[in-house]
Order: sequence, then structure tokens, then C-alpha cells
Amino acid sequence: MPTNIQSSRRVQIVAWAVASLFVLGFFFNPVGVWTGPIMGVWFVGTQKLRRGFLWMIAFGVIPSLIFGWRKIPLTGPEQALHYLGWTLLAAVLGVLPFTFHRLVSPRLPGFLSTLPLSLAAVAIPSLALALHIGAASMIRPSTFLIFWFAATIVWLWNQESRATKFVFAAGFIVVGGFRLFRPFSDVALPINLVRVGELLIGATFSWICLGAALFLSVWALFRPIKQRSWASRPETIARLQSPFTGEPLHVVSEQGREALVSSTGERFPVRNGIPAFLKPEDLTGDNGKYNHLYQVIGGFYDDTQRIFIALKGFNRDVYFRSYMSLLEAKPGDSVLETSVGTGLNFKYLPRGVQLSGLDLSPEMLANCQNNLRRWQMDADLYLGNAESLPFADSSFDVVFHVGGINFFNDRAKAIREMIRVAKPGSLLLIADETEKHVKQIYEKGPGGHLYKNRKEPVSAPIDLVPPEMQEIHLEIGRTGEWYMLTFRKPAAGLGRNKNANSTKQEGSSR
Ligand SMILES: C[S@@+](CC[C@H](N)C(=O)[O-])C[C@H]1O[C@@H](n2cnc3c(N)ncnc32)[C@H](O)[C@@H]1O
Repeated sequence: MPTNIQSSRRVQIVAWAVASLFVLGFFFNPVGVWTGPIMGVWFVGTQKLRRGFLWMIAFGVIPSLIFGWRKIPLTGPEQALHYLGWTLLAAVLGVLPFTFHRLVSPRLPGFLSTLPLSLAAVAIPSLALALHIGAASMIRPSTFLIFWFAATIVWLWNQESRATKFVFAAGFIVVGGFRLFRPFSDVALPINLVRVGELLIGATFSWICLGAALFLSVWALFRPIKQRSWASRPETIARLQSPFTGEPLHVVSEQGREALVSSTGERFPVRNGIPAFLKPEDLTGDNGKYNHLYQVIGGFYDDTQRIFIALKGFNRDVYFRSYMSLLEAKPGDSVLETSVGTGLNFKYLPRGVQLSGLDLSPEMLANCQNNLRRWQMDADLYLGNAESLPFADSSFDVVFHVGGINFFNDRAKAIREMIRVAKPGSLLLIADETEKHVKQIYEKGPGGHLYKNRKEPVSAPIDLVPPEMQEIHLEIGRTGEWYMLTFRKPAAGLGRNKNANSTKQEGSSR
């Protein structure tokens, strides 16, 4: 199987062109009018509600003060404060549609989930206008279209729909071009349909949007995100145990909240559908240091990875399959990924497997839940440390790990745990980046300081795999930036390994 992934010039050119368009949007208003709302709705969607709201306000207010400081009246402190107050209010009014969308759209089905942004983008300023708050401007149907376009693009992007690039290109060429050369505000034509629409519909359109926004809010309120109860998963509960004492666990429900408890009184709460097995000690050392990073980047993780892969011209499916195809998973198998992150690897497993994922970061797991909902997949997720797993011995047909082990506190313990919970005879996979990648990419990127001055360079943990494991095999791929280590847990008991270990270089096949 080829592990040296080919780069496609065409993909790379398209990716760089789209990225440049977004950069251009910061400096050239006719493009920014379209790219700005896309960036806004994407950004707010990656953040927790309050954090997204505050960041958006900061993005709105700070540049306008830096670049428009000359407009601040210097006639007296009162006037200056007055000006700042209105600037802040304008920013809040501008951000509210995005916050509304972030709140309501995840609870709406399918394409309907693209509507809250555009409805709120029309309704909120109209309401402000009606209430004489600030100097809200006249609302145009074009506002609705621009924001709907933005929400649709982000929706298609999140669905990983191949239609994204076509809708994107069509939207920019047709509507963007029209706006660029014949702005809606200049009534150059004898009959400007948009202008006529504005005059005819005017306030009625705003009120319709307000009514529709209210309707969608009520609908969303009565359509809470459903979570499967743990009491309804007896097969899953049967393989759970306390990671600290090894005691089996059972589900209790107190005031509508579930928890997992052991007979000796240990109690593990279930928060947002995910049992939490962490102790404060789990977040010390390197585990704590990198956990902070994942808590911050959790919402961006998938998209940065997607953008990075596209800018390099790689085919994403080939990229993931380069290691996922090493697994021996088949429908019906129980599969565990330690350090599951946002669950990106799950899509590359056969349909019909029972998925379990454990991670140290609640933020990464929350994004994993969102992804699973989008992909209509189901998995048992756990908040825990891969160095002490909450599962009984020999629980899973397939156990694998991708992308976190390099910076674990105790890699040997994590590997022993993976082996313990795997069924005898199963093949295990550990894949992560090599020192070359960490030096070239991580150390130079944002957050690079976390990777500098390490005690030792990263290395594939082949020497930490117990010698009794069989078929130990190390492969280096992706131009030397990635290692894949596989080994088999002996079928009966733990006999000595009779097979020679092997190391292969990129481009080799198994
Ligand atoms: C680079 S991400 C990889 C995520 C996913 N496996 C993938 O391939 O997309 C690394 C993940 O390891 C998790 N992690 C780091 N230390 C961990 C630990 N000690 N136990 C469990 N997960 C850990 C992080 O929270 C993060 O989600």
C-alpha cells in the first residue's frame, strides 16, 4: 500500500486561489462583503457561544478604532465616550445575527439550518431601526442573500460536500460580479429589480424575517439535541471499569443526571453525554501543557487540518486511508481509538462497527459529538487519559491511536493499556508525526514555543512495544513526516515473539 501521498497541482492551485480570495476580502470591500460573513459564521461556529461573541466584538471594534481613530471626537471626554459607546453598540448589533445562528442552527434539520443567519441579519437591524436604536441602516434583500450565501457555504463545508466549490464559485461569479460592476445602491438601470423589491417590500420583508426568526427559535427550543442514555447501553457498560481501581461500573441516575459508579463508591459523572474519568494528576506535565492547546484549538482543529492538506495539494481520503487501511476492522467489530480528538478517523472505518473513542480534551470531544451528529454516526465517547483506560481487559476487536502519543507523559503505559484492552490476536496501530514534521511544521507554526526546547526528539515508540507482541512493523511515510507502527497481540497467552521486527521506509507496501 503506498504511503507516500501524491500531491495534486490542480487541488493546490484551487486551494491557494480560494485562500487568496479570503485574504483579499480583508482589503477590498466588494470581496469582503462576501467573504466577511463566511468568515464570521464559520468562526462563531467553531467557538463556544460566549467566547465567539466576545471575539467577534473585539474583531469589530478594535480595527475600527485603530483605522478610524481620526473620527473619534476630541472635543471632550463626553463626546469621545459617546462615540465609543455607539461603536460598541454597532458591533453588538453586527455580531448578534452570528450568535443567533450559532445558537439556533445546530438544532434545525438539514438545509433549514442555513436560514437563521440571514433572517437575523435582516430582523435585528430592522428591530433596532424600529426601536430607534442607533443609526441602523435600511435593510435590503441583498443583505438576506449575502448572509444566506455565507451560511450555505459554511453548511456545505461542514457537510464536506463536494458541491461547496461549485456553489462558492457560482455565488462569487454571478452575484459578486453583479455587485462589483453594478452596485445595488446605484440605480443605474431604468428598472433595478432589487431597488424595486426594496421599495415594494421594504418593511414588510423585515417583519417577515423577524417572524420567521422567532418561529425558528421556538422550533429550535422544542427540538433539543438528543443524547442517548448510558442506561440504554448494557453491552457498553459491561466492558467499563474504574481506571483507578479496576472495579466494574454501573449507571445511576440522580435528578435526571446519569453517573457511573463502582461498588466501592467511586463516582464518575456523565457530562453532556460523556462520562468523565479524569483526575487532576492526569492534567500535569506534558499532558496538561498540550491539553491546554487542544482546549483552545478544538473548534479549529478539523478545518486547519483540511486547509493544510488542501494547500499541500493532497487528497484527503488518500491521506487518511494511508494509515486507516492498515487496520483489520470489519462490520460488527468493537473499535477503540485512544485520543480520538474530533473523530476524523471514524469516517474511514467500515460502516457497522461499534465505535468508542477516548480523549483528554472536553473541547475536542464536544467537536467529535458535533461531527458524529453531522455524519449521522454513533459512538461511545469518554473523557479520560489514554494512560489509564476505563475498560476491562480484552474488550475490543480493534484498538488504534493516531496523532497524540508523541507528547504523552508516559508512552509506555499508554501502549500497555492499548494492549490490555485489545482482544488476543488483534492488530494494533499507533501512528504519529516524526521529528522532521514536528521541527518543520509545529515548531514554526502558532504555538511553536510549546514544541521547542523538548528534552528529546520525538521517535516512533517501537522500543516500548513489549517483545512478546508479534508482527511488530514500523513504516515511515509521507516524505518522512509520519510513522505507522503496527503489532499483533498474541492469540493465546503472551508467548515470545518469533517474528523478526522490521522497519520500512516510505513507498513500501505491506
Ligand atoms: C493531534 S490530535 C489527534 C486526534 C485524532 N486522533 C486525529 O487523528 O485526528 C491529538 C489528540 O490527543 C489527545 N490527547 C493528548 N494527550 C492525551 C492523553 N494523555 N490521553 C488521551 N488523549 C490525549 C488530545 O486531546 C488530542 O485530541
